[in-house]
Amino acid sequence: MLCLGNICRSPLAEGILREKISKNHFVDSAGTINMHQGKKADARSIAVAKSHGVDINIHRSRPITKNDLDEFDIIFCMDQHNYDDAISMAKSEAQKQKISLILEDYGDGNILEVPDPYYSDLQDFEEVYLLLDKACDRIAKTINQDQ
Ligand code: 4NP
Repeated sequence: MLCLGNICRSPLAEGILREKISKNHFVDSAGTINMHQGKKADARSIAVAKSHGVDINIHRSRPITKNDLDEFDIIFCMDQHNYDDAISMAKSEAQKQKISLILEDYGDGNILEVPDPYYSDLQDFEEVYLLLDKACDRIAKTINQDQ
């Protein structure tokens, strides 16, 4: 799960998907910038997750590395900027194929980007949570079926 700072959206996406997916899948998240490296998720993400029974307290922000594009099978990006940044890091067509916009494949078709809630309020974090929860339901269904 990839966003900009790895403190608001992608830690939520990581926590939500981990709850839904079978335990033999490794779910992680990262940001395209290192500005918040080592920091916990934003307090608003932690609070919204907690209100839905998801604990993301253990999360610490980290930037994406070139190695991630080898290690992970799928890189879900929250918005077009994250997508463009990940694509620009890719060294091969195979790596590019791993990268997608999470809501393009697993959204409801209306909203294609997960809005950045950083400069917004708790209500927008809740909306981000609900968007990601629905998308992760669809992802988990697809991935759990493929086993
Ligand atoms: P995120 O949100 O990409 O969902 O973690 C943001 C976090 C930090 C900043 C912007 C968005 N920032 O400008 O520092």
